[in-house]
Amino acid sequence: MRSIKLGLLGFGTIGTGVVKLLQKNHALLAERTGVSLELVRIADLDITTDRGVNLAPGILSADAEGLLNDPEIQVVIELIGGYEPARSFVLKAIQNGKHVVTANKALLALHGEEIFRAAEEAGVEVMYEASVGGGIPVISAIKENLGANEFTSLYGILNGTCNYILTRMDEEGEVFADVLVDAQKHGYAEADPTFDVEGIDTAHKLALLLSLCFGTRVDFDKIYTEGISKITALDIEFAHGFGYKLKLLAIGKRDGDQIEARVHPTMVPKDYPLSTINGVFNCVRLVGDFVGPVMLSGYGAGMDATASAVMGDVVAIAHNLKAGIGTRVAALGCPQSALSNYAIKPMEQIVTPYYLRLMVKDQPMVLAQIAGILGKHQISIESMIQPHRHVAEAVPIVFMTHEAEERNVRAALYEIDQLGEVCEESLLIRIEDNLE
Ligand code: HSE
Repeated sequence: MRSIKLGLLGFGTIGTGVVKLLQKNHALLAERTGVSLELVRIADLDITTDRGVNLAPGILSADAEGLLNDPEIQVVIELIGGYEPARSFVLKAIQNGKHVVTANKALLALHGEEIFRAAEEAGVEVMYEASVGGGIPVISAIKENLGANEFTSLYGILNGTCNYILTRMDEEGEVFADVLVDAQKHGYAEADPTFDVEGIDTAHKLALLLSLCFGTRVDFDKIYTEGISKITALDIEFAHGFGYKLKLLAIGKRDGDQIEARVHPTMVPKDYPLSTINGVFNCVRLVGDFVGPVMLSGYGAGMDATASAVMGDVVAIAHNLKAGIGTRVAALGCPQSALSNYAIKPMEQIVTPYYLRLMVKDQPMVLAQIAGILGKHQISIESMIQPHRHVAEAVPIVFMTHEAEERNVRAALYEIDQLGEVCEESLLIRIEDNLE
């Protein structure tokens, strides 16, 4: 049987999962692809930690250059993460005519154009299913199975760590910081967990989905990105009371030559399927002009599910090689030359209903002043509650608004926060209750 030699860069949690999968399912993969997938080299700076897997002698070394220059290796799996040296290694692999499989969303969100162009010129695949949604096969679905559709919107719960934290806060009333430690122990979190909790990891994934769905280059820095670190148990409790769940959503919408591209905590009606995605599960909801709404969900992080996605890409490349094909589908579903340059709609122009939580002194005229400021800025109130009364302390007042323009909401909150009776910076949470 023909064999295809693989090289693995990065022997952390996901790398270990890849080795385990290859060892357990080796015969099955050979049966399916007709080739034997052989992992011949692993390069990692740490060659001493016991990962709980047995390797043939000599496979693991710190020699990434040796792996990249090994003429036997046809597929390089990059699981180092981060920008450098991952970027240089991926470019070197491409330059050496090797196919690349990566889970590195940060790298592709910022340097995708350079990497995909280099791959196109070299006639090799760069596949990255594991970079978005862990084990969910969303990238191949967009490029292939749904590739006949024009997409109008996408919603994603794309960070397992955040969804795990929000779910535990919701179901068990736990405190943010404690649950984060637990997520890190499970191996869900990024090396730098601020990437998770501040929404940056979700934004990396959104950038890729936007390019795939709308066929456009995306300026990553223009994606509005807000994480979950300011969310309190109180907001989750209020969300419940109003019939909503709180999720960190990635939102992409096409509006002519503009796209909405935003990541922020969002209130979603409890009875929407998106609201039922809990724990480390992720989901992506897409709307295509012919298929209508499609929702895919599965484990969004963790060793096994992510290894499944990585190896799915290796299997696809093995099929190509067996059929004598170099590349089959362009990395973003269309050639680089066919990509558009849609502008990202400024956040001030977003129109949506809002949840506004203010902490105020419980005194006469406070509510009247706040309602006056909201009215002056064209913000219409749908409902309002002031649930607690502790005379000496600040009390929360929560407003649910009708649809309003974000520029007006921000201007109103700025004015409200100047009032002497307002005790801390007010919080706004956007609501999505009108999915097409
Ligand atoms: N840190 C990421 C998450 C891992 O929590 O979803 C998968 O990209």
